[in-house]
Amino acid sequence: MPEKIALVTGAGGFIGHHLVSYLVAQGHKVRGVDIKAPEYEASKAHEFELLDLRVPGNCERAVSGVDEVYHLAADMGGIGYITSSHAAITLHNTLINVNMIKSAREADVKRFLFSSSACIYPQYLQHKPDVTPLREDDAFPADPEEGYGLEKLYMEKMCQYFSEDWGFPTRTVRFHNVYGPLGTYDGGREKAPAAICRKVALAADGSSIEIWGDGQQTRSFMHVDDCVEGIFRIMRSDYDRPLNLGTDELVSVDQLVDMVSEIAGKRLVKRHDRSRPQGVRGRNSDNSRLREVLGWEPSILLKDGLKPTYRWIAEMLARKADAPHVQAAE
Ligand code: NAD
Ligand code: GDD
Repeated sequence: MPEKIALVTGAGGFIGHHLVSYLVAQGHKVRGVDIKAPEYEASKAHEFELLDLRVPGNCERAVSGVDEVYHLAADMGGIGYITSSHAAITLHNTLINVNMIKSAREADVKRFLFSSSACIYPQYLQHKPDVTPLREDDAFPADPEEGYGLEKLYMEKMCQYFSEDWGFPTRTVRFHNVYGPLGTYDGGREKAPAAICRKVALAADGSSIEIWGDGQQTRSFMHVDDCVEGIFRIMRSDYDRPLNLGTDELVSVDQLVDMVSEIAGKRLVKRHDRSRPQGVRGRNSDNSRLREVLGWEPSILLKDGLKPTYRWIAEMLARKADAPHVQAAE
């Protein structure tokens, strides 16, 4: 019998790259596919193909001979990017997602995992910093994040319909803000943890850094090691409805900045800029269902996960020529 292959789409990106390493370490044969190669280190995938998954024929090629699909490829970024690119994001992700699930079903793939987002949750439930953690059933009546969140919600429903009408086995995972080493930290797509690490690393002790919003907005942040373990566990579970994957450690953006500053050993003044994109006022994950289904939930505390993240970003910046104030944390 031919060896089973796990396909990771988006394997050139942050979570996909970590997932490939995790699956290979677990003994799986892995095919990685992306429109670009991983930026910071080589992929450990047994096969890596550069394919544009907006093109139907490329999706057919990607799933050929594959047993399981971890579908992570997407046009995505932090709040700055997703609020400024509604047309491109909906166009690209619709094409990628529709072609991928169609091809996977036609190739008789045994399991298909879709990487959704906490951005599908209604904005009317996220107006306060002390937000009530979001439960999976809160998704409707819908009022998702424009563009990116709306498309994710539609694809979630496609997964459900493929499963109900055609018996196609899907898994749907709603990630809450993921951070860690090897994630995008500059260029406009970076999310808050990486952006703050970059700003702190580049700042001289005693100087000021720009923070988007008033700093009181809240989030929960999940370390990428927890994320890939959760993805693997959810793929193996029998549960085919959407599941949160995040921590329920709620912190404000200002608290995030303080944690990173402490790791860096710098005292910095926060310059709040209320004209920059802020997204929802508060967002947290209710992990009751995740615990019920898996008997597990992410456990890496933010202050612990930020240490290797800050160290990696500081090192990357230090390698670039003119970053005189950068100090890698011990
Ligand atoms: P990422 O941008 O690092 O990775 C996505 C990858 O998809 C990139 O490498 C990109 O090149 C690839 N891609 C984009 N268009 C493509 C195309 N046409 N063909 C082939 N590949 C293409 O993002 P990530 O943080 O690793 O996110 C992975 C998945 O998780 C995405 O679906 C994202 O929407 C979802 N997600 C991530 C977070 C987070 O906090 N990182 C939160 C919620 C959901
Ligand atoms: N990106 C960024 N950069 N955000 C900053 C910064 C900065 O320099 N300073 C403060 N923030 C604030 C933002 O204003 C926002 O209120 C908060 O930090 C979090 O921003 P992001 O991390 O960019 O995005 P998000 O949490 O609103 O949404 C992200 O998470 C979703 C899943 O939970 C995005 O990455 C989505 O694409 C993702 O689906």
